[in-house]
Amino acid sequence: MEVERDKLREQIMRQAQGALSMSIAYIGIVNRLFAHLADADSVSPKWLAQKTGMNTDYVARWCDAAYAFEYLEQPVENIFGLTPLGHAFLDDQPGNLISFAVQSMLSAHMAERAAGLMRTGECPGEKILNEWETILPWFGPMLEHMFGPLLKNEIIDRVPAFSEVDAQGGTIIDLGCGNGWYLRAIIGSYPKLRGIGLDGIGENIDQAVKAAEREGLTNRLTFAVGDIYNFHVDEPANLIAMNRSLHHVWDQKKKIFTILRDHLCPGGSVVIWEPNWPLEYENLRIPDRRALAFQNLSEHVLGNHFLHADEIVAELKAVGLKPEVFSIAGGRDVVITGTRSK
Ligand SMILES: C[S@@+](CC[C@H](N)C(=O)[O-])C[C@H]1O[C@@H](n2cnc3c(N)ncnc32)[C@H](O)[C@@H]1O
Repeated sequence: MEVERDKLREQIMRQAQGALSMSIAYIGIVNRLFAHLADADSVSPKWLAQKTGMNTDYVARWCDAAYAFEYLEQPVENIFGLTPLGHAFLDDQPGNLISFAVQSMLSAHMAERAAGLMRTGECPGEKILNEWETILPWFGPMLEHMFGPLLKNEIIDRVPAFSEVDAQGGTIIDLGCGNGWYLRAIIGSYPKLRGIGLDGIGENIDQAVKAAEREGLTNRLTFAVGDIYNFHVDEPANLIAMNRSLHHVWDQKKKIFTILRDHLCPGGSVVIWEPNWPLEYENLRIPDRRALAFQNLSEHVLGNHFLHADEIVAELKAVGLKPEVFSIAGGRDVVITGTRSK
């Protein structure tokens, strides 16, 4: 019994330390401490504070914590440099670990809000996103780091809507485009296409515009702040993408699916990418789907919930679009296309 409890304590302690290590990494990412440490070789906390515009006492304590969690090494007293683990949190590194730290902090924030709101049942809705003073600028990059590789490795070549739209040329609209990473990736790969991205959060659109400028795509890409519930584009689209945004507007699904169909040109497709809430309840226990159950609790705070693929298919059929379902990431996500007849 005693041995069992000791084992349990060790297991929980390791998990708690894991959460702490993500918190320390988060501070290093959002205040660019890792980035400046990478530029210099070995530096004092005072130098780091000056470079980043942060408070010296806070930076000194962060250095202690980052040293404790092996993000920093200390070759001489009070002089710090990045370890290989610290390097893994730099945003110019392919396969970097930034999204884990940002997601972890977002989860802690949402858990605190859910704990309080559970007492009254209030769901404050999307306005809660404005509480994320330090998280919001990293929300788009977090999604980009998490899902960019999936788009490239599992979706583009498998979902025929992309090669079809490439053959036709024309316009792609991305509704709830976040920082625009998806549209930039598609437009970058298909030189005949133009793109329009729309999102409700100004910070996301600012990031999307800057990234499109950096990548030389502004002649074919435009981004604007707007509302999916009321969006209108004069020219019909060849492809309308909604990545992890449909569940945000599901409360008015009839209206949304009618708007989607009416904005498609004949032969055009909507391409919906969503987390796949499992039909078999026990699948929530699959290790890489556990986070889905936590995120669905967070979504409740925003007034949303995750969807079964079948629910989306039913709405596509109801507006006369022909559905096709693609299981992604071992079934954790789903891409569903709905094609308008020619
Ligand atoms: C989970 S994020 C996904 C962002 C992006 N599609 C991606 O894959 O990175 C959902 C996005 O939908 C946007 N959104 C939610 N409701 C919206 C609405 N009514 N109008 C416009 N954008 C909305 C949010 O601002 C947020 O950027």
